[in-house]
Amino acid sequence: MKSRVCIIDDQRAILESMEMFFRLRNWEVATAADGPAGLALVESFRPALVILDIRLPGLSGLEVLEELRSRFPELPVIIITAYQDMESTIRAIKLGAFDYLHKPIDVAEMDALIRRLEQTRQARSQKEGEVPEPEAGQSDPQPLIIARSRKMKEVFKVIALVSESRVTVLIQGESGTGKELIARSIHYNSPWKDRPFTVMDCSTLVDSLVESELFGYEKGAFTGAQETRKGRLELTGEGTIFFDEIGELPLNMQGKLLRFLQSGEFVRVGGNQPIFSKARIVAATNRDLTKRVQDGKFREDLYYRLKVVTINAPPLRNRKSDIPLLTDFFLRKMGAQNIAKRKRLSPGALELLLQHDWPGNVRQLENVLTRCAVLTPDLVLTREHTEACLQDAPHSLRLEAPEGSREDFERDHILGILNSQDWHLGKTCAQLQMSRPTLRARMKKYGLKKATVPLGANDFKKEQGNSIKPIRIG
Ligand SMILES: Nc1ncnc2c1ncn2[C@@H]1O[C@H](COP(=O)(O)OP(=O)(O)OP(=O)(O)O)[C@@H](O)[C@H]1O
Ligand SMILES: [Mg+2]
Repeated sequence: MKSRVCIIDDQRAILESMEMFFRLRNWEVATAADGPAGLALVESFRPALVILDIRLPGLSGLEVLEELRSRFPELPVIIITAYQDMESTIRAIKLGAFDYLHKPIDVAEMDALIRRLEQTRQARSQKEGEVPEPEAGQSDPQPLIIARSRKMKEVFKVIALVSESRVTVLIQGESGTGKELIARSIHYNSPWKDRPFTVMDCSTLVDSLVESELFGYEKGAFTGAQETRKGRLELTGEGTIFFDEIGELPLNMQGKLLRFLQSGEFVRVGGNQPIFSKARIVAATNRDLTKRVQDGKFREDLYYRLKVVTINAPPLRNRKSDIPLLTDFFLRKMGAQNIAKRKRLSPGALELLLQHDWPGNVRQLENVLTRCAVLTPDLVLTREHTEACLQDAPHSLRLEAPEGSREDFERDHILGILNSQDWHLGKTCAQLQMSRPTLRARMKKYGLKKATVPLGANDFKKEQGNSIKPIRIG
């Protein structure tokens, strides 16, 4: 059965071009030129999607949207707006519009939007139970990148282009900007999406283990190698292998990875037979690789080999127009996952979020909202609630020591989080909202190892039970 779309716009030219766009893509189309006619049409035609002009004669687009949301809460509505309508656009997004298109309408953008709509629909049907927590090495769910800023639309375009090929991609960006989501998105939009997506977290693997993890080993290669084992490269087959924090890859492994990238071949540890692999390589870094190259920590030839195509994940402060949409998404997600009842932001709260600079980017925004939704009993989160949560959120460490020195407190705080995360550096960084190099430097400074005991064990436990324990997400 064909999908149905209703287009509500008073400009004949837009109605006609939109109608043509959808008919060419095999949709059934019905059109209306004003709000009341549009509402009646939706009632009788029962479309899967509505395209709605925000400026309409009679009933305004926003009023129509509000009416549609209350009568058909599940029905996605895409708004058509002009650049000068930013305020009503934000209101429309807050009212629950799926997304918006700027006039003049760009066909590629429109196609991307329809694709994202499909993704959302799939994700929703998946979400009935719970959203599964992705794990390295397993087949993971299709990721959902929520964004509508120009900057992220550029990123979407590059994702669409590169996912058709097997070219190596390097994703650069600050912590929490969504680099891993982008990597997953490249994989799950590719023709090889049914093959594995494997994560190699270069910063959490012990140096000596990297090689056998990646390439596998032959029986007897080292003490304890009782049988031959395939590495992640081999297990990934024609899928994608994601090198997270590639800047941290040990130098000797950088040479071996380069050789693989050039020849498609590698050798298992302790073996001598070259093995061929078609795995596609995507890498990410939140560090300046050119600087690592200058410092002699990263091979220049590997850097050039990796950066054939680069994607820069923009920091959230440079694309604040994504904040209303992200906020809405995270609040819904918390509702769906039963973390907190479905909450709304007051206009003042949203304004505050829009003013903030978000050094921890999208991850920090999600943390703040989670904290706020969980700690606030009211259904509407006000500016005051949000302000308190922003101040509390662990985007950096809380350094006001309850007792003892500031450093002792910091040491125990980091240790506590490391223990609660089973010493998974990636998760610890996420929870502390701290970059990996900083975490490593702190671990070195305080000599933190698995067996380390907290200095003020009792104080720390007490604090953890109260306000300092960061909220776990997802
Ligand atoms: N555009 C987005 N839409 C929805 N969720 C997002 C978006 N960007 C980031 N997130 C969420 O924010 C968190 C951080 O994203 P991700 O792990 O991809 O960032 P990263 O750039 O890899 O960070 P790091 O450098 O710290 O590893 C994740 O929970 C992710 O789901
Ligand atoms: Mg990451």
